[in-house]
Order: sequence, then C-alpha cells, then structure tokens
Amino acid sequence: MIPTPVCIVNFKSYPNATGRNALTLAKICDKVSQATNTQIIICVQTADIPLIAKSVKIPVFAQNVDPYEAGAHTGWVLAENLKEHGAQGTLLNHSEHKLSIDVLKKCLLRAKAAHLLTIVCAETSEEARLVASLKPDAIAIEPPELIGSDISVSSAKPELIEQSVRAVSFVPILCGAGIHTKDDVSKAIKLGAKGILVSSGVVNSPNPEKALKELVSGLR
Ligand code: G3P
Repeated sequence: MIPTPVCIVNFKSYPNATGRNALTLAKICDKVSQATNTQIIICVQTADIPLIAKSVKIPVFAQNVDPYEAGAHTGWVLAENLKEHGAQGTLLNHSEHKLSIDVLKKCLLRAKAAHLLTIVCAETSEEARLVASLKPDAIAIEPPELIGSDISVSSAKPELIEQSVRAVSFVPILCGAGIHTKDDVSKAIKLGAKGILVSSGVVNSPNPEKALKELVSGLR
C-alpha cells in the first residue's frame, strides 16, 4: 500500500538531484517529512539507491525497473536487485520513460514478485483506466505537455484529475506536472487526488526545503 496523502519527489536525472547532490536533497526530503509529519517518497537514480536508502527514513523508489528475471540480460535492471539495495518501490511508465502495455505488464509482474510497490504513470483518464486493470499500488496522472512548466495540472486540467478519479475507484490517483504552490496541491486534493508527483518545483528550487514544506502543507 502506498501511504496517502503523499508527496512523491521525482529526482529524474537533474544535476541537482544525482550523486552527492541526490544525497543532500534526500536528507532535506527526510527532514521535511519528519518536521511536517507527512508522507514523502523519493524516486532516485538507480545507482544512488543503496547510499540514499541507508541514509534516510523515508521510502526510496526507483524511477523504473526492467521486465527481466535474473539471467543473461546485460545492462537491464532487476527488481530483486533494487529491493536488495533498499528500494521500496518503483515508478513505471513515466512519460519520459514510456512503456508499451505488454512491457508494462511484465515490469509490474517483476516488481510485484520482488515485493516492490508500484506507481504507474498515465497521461489520460483512458490510460489510467487501462493501467488500473494491472493493479498497481497507485496511478499518477501527468499531462506531458505541462511537465517542467509553470502551469500546474490542477489549474490547467482539473477535469483530467476528476475524470481519472471517477474512472478508477480502486487505485489511489496521484497527479503531477507543473506543481509549484500550496494552492496547486490543495486543488488537486479537493479534486480527489490522494497525493502529488513533483520534480522541478522542488529539485530545481533555490530553496528545496522551503518549496517542499509549502507543497506538503497543501496535502492537509
Ligand atoms: O514525475 C514528476 C514530473 O514529471 C512532474 O515534473 O517538473 O513538472 O514537477 P515537474
């Protein structure tokens, strides 16, 4: 189960959020989670998982997992290996790492077999309905054209959140893209989302701690 309401911070591969900088940012997210008593999950680069998972209390997720079992699969990332090194879950099907439905099914099977929680991204309410049938632990609705922008999904496309919440009643719906303010978050929650997926608004903020504190205050 993904604890909700939740704020997922996707580190992507931004320079501010990889390697040493990833550890610093992860500790900030951990501190904000404890100080505000809110659920924060971070999605970090695969190579950063072991050190970060040892260094923070909040759940650490991978940004993807590959659809293979252990064996002769050079260069692919195993779900079991992520788990062994401290990942508690994984994002899947992000619009920057899109999977075909057949590959997504296999990735979900591999993640579930390794006891990783799964958050599957979807771009539309139709896609949300489709991926819900694969029973992920949460679905994150993100319109790709708003990702990395200053315009939030909750102000530009509130109907997308509402439609997705209506279309999928048995999997928690999160939403993301362009989220920067407390108001963006509280609107999303009022529309039925159980949390948010955010990246640049925190990762590339001049003051990530302040930015994250403001966002999580909108979850309540
Ligand atoms: O995974 C989160 C994401 O795609 C949203 O990115 O930069 O618009 O918060 P951003």
